[in-house]
Amino acid sequence: MHRLVIEGGTSLSGEVRISGAKNAALPLMCASLLTSEPVRFSNVPQLRDVATMIGLLGRIGVQVSRDERLGLEMRAERIAEPLAPYELVKTMRASILVLGPLLARCGEARVSLPGGCAIGLRPVDQHIKGLQRMGAEIHVEQGYISARSGRLRGARIVADMVTVTGTENLMMAATLAEGTTVLENSAREPEVSDLANCLNAMGARIRGAGTDVITIEGVERLHGAAHAIMPDRIETGTFLVAAAATGGAVRLNGTDGAILDAVLEKLCEAGAQIRVEPGTIALAMRRRPVGVSCRTAPYPAFPTDMQAQFMALDCVAEGTSVITETIFENRFMHALELQRLGAEIDISGNTAIVRGATRLQGATVMATDLRASASLVIAGLVAEGETTVERVYHLDRGYESIEEKLSQLGAKIRRVS
Ligand code: UD1
Repeated sequence: MHRLVIEGGTSLSGEVRISGAKNAALPLMCASLLTSEPVRFSNVPQLRDVATMIGLLGRIGVQVSRDERLGLEMRAERIAEPLAPYELVKTMRASILVLGPLLARCGEARVSLPGGCAIGLRPVDQHIKGLQRMGAEIHVEQGYISARSGRLRGARIVADMVTVTGTENLMMAATLAEGTTVLENSAREPEVSDLANCLNAMGARIRGAGTDVITIEGVERLHGAAHAIMPDRIETGTFLVAAAATGGAVRLNGTDGAILDAVLEKLCEAGAQIRVEPGTIALAMRRRPVGVSCRTAPYPAFPTDMQAQFMALDCVAEGTSVITETIFENRFMHALELQRLGAEIDISGNTAIVRGATRLQGATVMATDLRASASLVIAGLVAEGETTVERVYHLDRGYESIEEKLSQLGAKIRRVS
């Protein structure tokens, strides 16, 4: 098992390229199930979750070819077996994204229930309810969602809560349905819009992606297309917070400031100077950061996927800040590990009160989930002495070559096994 060893105390400085977004790549890859023609993606991030999705889609019958320039071609000429088995779904919840496309393409699907995960229960009832409204017959038996349908029918579906993969699953299924589907209370995340753009390039008729009402007019068939995956806003935010926490100055290329408004606002509030230009974001932090309070909520509000990183920043900032997590019920696992580095954090329910310390001290800490790992790396970069972050496989799910990119910015970080 790999671990990262970090010698803290260096300010990050320099330039780095941001990768394609994990949370856009995974649904986009599943969209290839909707057509027998090839779909080509560029700017594909090299991540463990992407490899897991290639494995899953390969099993289902998709032919996948890669080139070394971050390209991926996927061709679902024939569906061999419309099944997502437990072994794969348990390692990556986003596997649920094959459910809608498989049902729309071949009228049946069997997908393992994802179950709980480190950050909370995370049910998929909205995915199931939506597909049922479109005419699918769905049973949950022996831990699997078994779904059958003739051609799906358009429907008006009002989600009980905003769900990102739920919106994506239903939007994909609706592209091939008979008639019009209206998804209300939809997720407005930019990754949903990226998926809609690709589906429209494949011949779908989707309007309103990026708003909370998405209208999909079903078509008989979709065709191949080429699509460049949008930049990863969470990777971007993570590097910006790392630079701010270490008092650094960085320039991130291949990204987009427009999809990070809430995060950039918080960084400005913390005292960072930020310049956004087309394709790049530059940040300089010339003082000790000021603690910022954050409340997570669906896009365009402050993202839950940035909460742990901001907690690390608040640990070394001036003053006391309050972090409220409203999306996932158990997403403060990193707080206990941050305390091992000397952070002062009190947790009460879904609220964390962080009192900024003038210094943290290196220790061995354990990553519990993807974004928690990122917060521990940030804290390790700031702490005095050596920090070892164990269970780095969580980070590899969603950050491409994180230690190489941080080294490029001057961090003293190495991977050991
Ligand atoms: C996606 C992101 C993840 C991010 C999350 C919230 C991907 C691949 N993952 O996850 O990185 O942290 O959005 O921004 O895009 N819920 C239900 N029933 C459902 C669906 C969701 O109760 O059927 C609840 C969840 O438990 C959670 C909330 O709704 O409390 C939001 O979850 P959701 O947006 O669905 O998260 P994911 O799409 O799994």
